[in-house]
Amino acid sequence: MAATTTSPPTDPLPTTTPAPIVTTPRILIRPWSQADAEDMHKAANNLKVARYMTLRFPSPHTLASAEEWITLTTTSAATVGKHFAICLQPEGTPVGGIGLTPPPGNGVEPRTRELGYWLGEAAWGQGLATEAVTAFTRWAFSALGPEEGLRRIDAWVFGGNEASGRVLTKAGFVLEGRRRKAGFKFGEEFDIVLYGLLREELPLPN
Ligand SMILES: CC(C)(COP(=O)(O)OP(=O)(O)OC[C@H]1O[C@@H](n2cnc3c(N)ncnc32)[C@H](O)[C@@H]1OP(=O)(O)O)[C@@H](O)C(=O)NCCC(=O)NCCS
Repeated sequence: MAATTTSPPTDPLPTTTPAPIVTTPRILIRPWSQADAEDMHKAANNLKVARYMTLRFPSPHTLASAEEWITLTTTSAATVGKHFAICLQPEGTPVGGIGLTPPPGNGVEPRTRELGYWLGEAAWGQGLATEAVTAFTRWAFSALGPEEGLRRIDAWVFGGNEASGRVLTKAGFVLEGRRRKAGFKFGEEFDIVLYGLLREELPLPN
């Protein structure tokens, strides 16, 4: 009689996509997942995107860079729950990123966070960044409520990045100042422009 063999059970690969923190008609914002690394790399590996980002955003943005970022934002206590993927509805493809970081330095700004965001070039010019920044900042003020006491969101925009300034203005941010010639990247110096949004400037429940 022929012996029957059965394979030992194997753990299925994780296929679940993290639940969104925010949804709008055209996008959803959710934690990154390792399954996003290829899409992130393809969207982020573009000098036109990197040009206006800080040095935390690598250029070239390799597949390994994407994997490292996703690992950091999904496992490090300092970054978990602070950086997210912007994904198109309904298919859920990641097309960019958005997140909040504590301001560097002086220790007297515990109620302030800095906003960062980017979209791959294929997603530009459709109002998606405005939709993402508007929805994400409303979520942040609600989620980082009484305990975390988020009071203010900063956004620093490199001079010449008119599209980003416009996004922030449309999302309710106020233009607060310009640090002349403060920035230098890719061999060019530029102003850095500060936008700010206060909790009380939004129609939120207390
Ligand atoms: C900045 C960025 C997020 C904008 O994304 P987007 O989805 O194209 O933005 P939106 O479509 O929501 O809005 C862009 C606005 O800027 C305007 N705009 C675009 N290019 C412009 C330019 N060169 N000059 C003036 N306004 C410009 C658009 O007309 C639009 O305004 P409107 O709705 O009043 O017409 C995207 O270009 C990007 O990721 N850039 C690289 C990374 C980056 O700059 N991140 C932000 C760092 S602070």
